[in-house]
Amino acid sequence: MKRAIIIGATSGIGQEVAKILLKEGWKIGIAGRREAALEAFQRTAPNQIEIQALDVTQEDAAEKLHTLIERLGGMELFLLSSGIGFQNMNLREDIELNTVRTNVEGFTRVVDCAFSYFKEKGGGHLAVISSIAGTKGLGVAPAYSATKRFQNTYIDALEQLAYMQKLAIHFTDIRPGFVATDLLNDGKHYPMLMRADKVAYDIVRALKRKKRIAVIDTRYRVLVFFWGMIPRWIWKRMPVKTPGKT
Ligand SMILES: NC(=O)c1ccc[n+]([C@@H]2O[C@H](COP(=O)([O-])OP(=O)(O)OC[C@H]3O[C@@H](n4cnc5c(N)ncnc54)[C@H](OP(=O)(O)O)[C@@H]3O)[C@@H](O)[C@H]2O)c1
Repeated sequence: MKRAIIIGATSGIGQEVAKILLKEGWKIGIAGRREAALEAFQRTAPNQIEIQALDVTQEDAAEKLHTLIERLGGMELFLLSSGIGFQNMNLREDIELNTVRTNVEGFTRVVDCAFSYFKEKGGGHLAVISSIAGTKGLGVAPAYSATKRFQNTYIDALEQLAYMQKLAIHFTDIRPGFVATDLLNDGKHYPMLMRADKVAYDIVRALKRKKRIAVIDTRYRVLVFFWGMIPRWIWKRMPVKTPGKT
């Protein structure tokens, strides 16, 4: 039986991926801050699910992640789905800094912990859900887009580090477009909105293929391709007033 840890499985994309892995017979360890949500999900398949409440922004998160790995009996796949994001054109300091704390500090803490675990065990599969938002700086959501770029670059760096250290660690950076989850539950209209269960299906397929970067879905792959070609002097003038933060 294969074992996966998913951090950020109390809702949204992480929980949908967890459901698919359960159906495929995986044993999973899930984490997030909301203990009640973890317990409710565990009741759906008590023999296959281990839980651990943790907050990635807290210093004890790595220790709690180790506890969860131990309780699961080890892990072959680590998936980080925790993240927050908000539109913040007024640059509210609490929103910007909280986003950095979760998507940069928390991300680094648990991703490094997973990397060290796989290093010690001789290999594994380390996957994160970043976003297409890391492709360009988005004026409507500065911290969100910048922290997602950090995540993209961090995984690039770890991949090189693993190569330098001759480690058999595979990396997958998953970059979805707009997905209908709590993250976008702010009453705004989001174009090209995808269903979380469908996105999860694409994610599991990308994980099985050990894809290095998975932009989801095809429409967003095209969009990101063209975004990448837009020069900075045009980009700054573009009214990318996306009604959302992805
Ligand atoms: N929805 C989109 O359009 C979209 C698009 C591209 C990328 N993404 C990315 O996909 C990932 C999952 O988001 P989602 O759309 O599935 O939204 P979601 O339903 O809000 O899920 C976010 C998950 O992150 C966890 N989380 C948040 N802060 C945490 C913390 N400090 N410590 C531990 N866990 C924390 C939440 O659990 P608790 O609240 O229980 O802690 C929850 O399980 C995020 O990284 C997001 O940036 C989303």
